Amino acid sequence: MRETRIHEKTFREMITEEVIAERIKQLALQINNDLSGKDVVFIGILNGAFLFAADLFRQIDFPARISFVKLASYKGTSSSGTIKELIGWNEDINNKTVVVIEDIVDTGNTLERIVDELVIRKAAEIKIAALLYKPDAYKYKETISLDYIGFEIPNDFVVGFGLDYDGLGRNLPSVYTLIQ
Ligand code: XMP
Ligand code: MG
Repeated sequence: MRETRIHEKTFREMITEEVIAERIKQLALQINNDLSGKDVVFIGILNGAFLFAADLFRQIDFPARISFVKLASYKGTSSSGTIKELIGWNEDINNKTVVVIEDIVDTGNTLERIVDELVIRKAAEIKIAALLYKPDAYKYKETISLDYIGFEIPNDFVVGFGLDYDGLGRNLPSVYTLIQ
């Protein structure tokens, strides 16, 4: 198996680019079957989801829109630390089917924040597509169901295919896991 180094850390290839491509094809087929004929907006979460979103959306075979939002961290005035604000909403999602495209669902805190926003904006239906999912870390099993999951992975840090370590590694075509 291939290994790669970023800064002082070593990562080992865990999901190859061929396997990822095959799985995204299957997810697109499922989405085409499930959502064709509906008024669908895909919402990609930047930065990590940009490659997954591109590969998935290219294989959607019905007319649909795509837009991207980003979680921007900034220091709050209180001592509670970092506050995350969702920026970049410019798509009308009122009464539409929304497919959230995430690179990875870990604790699910990010996803919860996004779903809350979609509910406020009155999405008719919310579907979640995530390339990677860490079931052992996910805290919202009872409340937010995950509709289109690429791969379930262990609770270890991963990079590649859009995911970064300190801003690096997003261009790796496979997914790599931290070994040391
Ligand atoms: P939560 O815990 O909110 O995390 O579900 C989701 C966001 O955190 C980032 N994340 C990772 N990024 N390797 C990464 O490069 C990882 O193993 C990892 N786990 C979480 C990611 O940005 C995701 O959207
Ligand atoms: Mg990141």
